[in-house]
Amino acid sequence: MKMLLANAEAWPGFDTTVELLRQGGAGIDSMVSGIAKVEREAKVRSVGYGGWPNMLGEMEFDAGVMDGTTRDVGAVGAVPATLPVSALAHEVMKHLPHVMLTGAGARRFASERGFAVDEVLHPDSKRVWWERLQKEMSAEQQAAFPDIPLAPLSNTITDPERVRDTTVFLGRDASNGIGVVTSTSGWAWKYPGRLGDSPIPGAGFYADSRYGAAACTHTGEMTMRCSTSRSIVLAMRLGYTLADAIKLAVDELSELRTGFLAGVVIHAIDAKGNHQVVNYRCDEEIRYWYWDERMAAPELRVATAVKL
Ligand code: GLY
Repeated sequence: MKMLLANAEAWPGFDTTVELLRQGGAGIDSMVSGIAKVEREAKVRSVGYGGWPNMLGEMEFDAGVMDGTTRDVGAVGAVPATLPVSALAHEVMKHLPHVMLTGAGARRFASERGFAVDEVLHPDSKRVWWERLQKEMSAEQQAAFPDIPLAPLSNTITDPERVRDTTVFLGRDASNGIGVVTSTSGWAWKYPGRLGDSPIPGAGFYADSRYGAAACTHTGEMTMRCSTSRSIVLAMRLGYTLADAIKLAVDELSELRTGFLAGVVIHAIDAKGNHQVVNYRCDEEIRYWYWDERMAAPELRVATAVKL
């Protein structure tokens, strides 16, 4: 059964991917086409052009793709001046022997593959970033910026709460291939070079067409420590139901006692056609998009909230 699951921020591209899947398109191609629209939509304030910059006021994008049939992965992290980065991650998967490129190397590869050098800092993001930074800096720091130590500012400035989401698409295509694609601009005002979980296979995403797929949004600093997406798919391989596999992953997240602890949203599907979206510890209501080929149109649904 063809199906597609994505988080609420997927609205600019969800229908595009559904239409391509309906027409028999390959899963990853269809999802990258949809996510590219999300990345270019200025109203989506957590991904691509609409997202927030790092502490220096520079956009750095993360993305990942995984083909669950071959377990091929492509990922890019902290990429400057490039949209859509999910398509760039796909290019890494198709054209390099590597799994992941970051920073200047990823940008160099983007040029080799024909990606323009884009203007990616939204004027409103620049304004909000500078106002927020100014509030936290002394007059001396402002005068010397950016040649000041950023680490002391990191805990007060970085703002994971401003980024409520990454975009994640999990889909099954006409050949029953399961795949996943992610894209984000990461935490607002993050330390330059910070990678979230969205480009990290096993943490922010994982797919295996025999068992299912999982992808996470919100606090990557937690899912990277628990390999949350891979744990869910491995648990299904070991015979857990989808619900029990997610419960195992949530239990692991809830065992963390140190470091930055906040909300995580888990999106997961199994190879039988079931899906579940679990909101662990996020205060607000979390919604997601779902479509499968039995449905006339996609639906925006409410995730199951869990607080341990
Ligand atoms: N989950 C997105 C991030 O941590 O950047």
